[in-house]
Amino acid sequence: MTGRLRQVFRPGKPEGKQPAAPQGAAPYSGFAGAKRLIESKFEIQDMKHALVTGGSRGIGRAVSLRLAKEGYCVSINYLSNKAAAEETLALVEEEGGSGELWPFDVSDPEQAAAFFGSWKEKHADAHVEVLVHNAGIRKDNLLMWMQRQEWDQVLDTNLRSFFNVVQPLLVPMMAGKFGRIVSIASLSGLKGMPGQANYSAAKGGLIAATKALAQEVARKGVTVNAVAPGFISTDMTADLDEKELKKLIPAGRFGRAEEVADLVAFLISEKASYITGEVISINGGLYT
Ligand code: NAI
Repeated sequence: MTGRLRQVFRPGKPEGKQPAAPQGAAPYSGFAGAKRLIESKFEIQDMKHALVTGGSRGIGRAVSLRLAKEGYCVSINYLSNKAAAEETLALVEEEGGSGELWPFDVSDPEQAAAFFGSWKEKHADAHVEVLVHNAGIRKDNLLMWMQRQEWDQVLDTNLRSFFNVVQPLLVPMMAGKFGRIVSIASLSGLKGMPGQANYSAAKGGLIAATKALAQEVARKGVTVNAVAPGFISTDMTADLDEKELKKLIPAGRFGRAEEVADLVAFLISEKASYITGEVISINGGLYT
């Protein structure tokens, strides 16, 4: 177990993953079930916490699963797809991890503030040490045809949300002298893509905010980075012509959400303590 992982579990707790309830058994029935329920409540109280915005599916789901494997209790945020979010949580628990579902709209400052209030009520002695700000949407159109709503919604969800979910975490992270913030940006935010003036502007802004904030909090052990995926196979890219587009990608294929999650897992690890203010591309060599 690495130093960071050792810290994930507080001293006195056995290292490694706790055994999951046996498959097929009702997890909390009977005496053994009640014991397991009490143990699981203590485990959650005793764990380090991560928040993944847009964690119900795609890249956010893969990141949630990966962080749970790293020993974090993962607060999985999503907008409206409860069934997908429940599936993510079930997958986390199947692997012996812990998580919670927190539906709210990241673009709405009041909903975000209410979330942080409720979260703190539930976890009075804890704070979120890792934030992966992944929630995002695209509404592509040439700017000359773009509706104001398409511009605003994409800016609100991808960029303005950064303030809503990052700002409340900074003081506790700095006080705890440890924090990891990773934003899922995009190749589109680095090079600009035609038909995506709204999305490129939002992701470009996210990258700039990441770089600025990194310099504000570096001395307090908080790192702030962005990951810039190219084409990753998820619901978001399901409407694209993968057969044609992959001809443009030097690696000859779309990426997988799990590959993005592996990169995020490295950035939140102790080994990445000296990486901050960076934008790491993961695009199969597409960016030239
Ligand atoms: P997806 O469409 O499969 O999942 C998006 C997630 O964001 C969902 O969980 C959804 O509930 C959540 N979400 C959307 N609006 C929200 C809101 N207002 N409040 C809370 N949650 C909200 O998308 P995918 O592909 O997994 O994308 C994840 C991130 O990666 C996004 O930020 C996207 O822009 C970015 N990205 C994706 C690429 C791809 O090729 N799939 C490429 C580059 C970046």
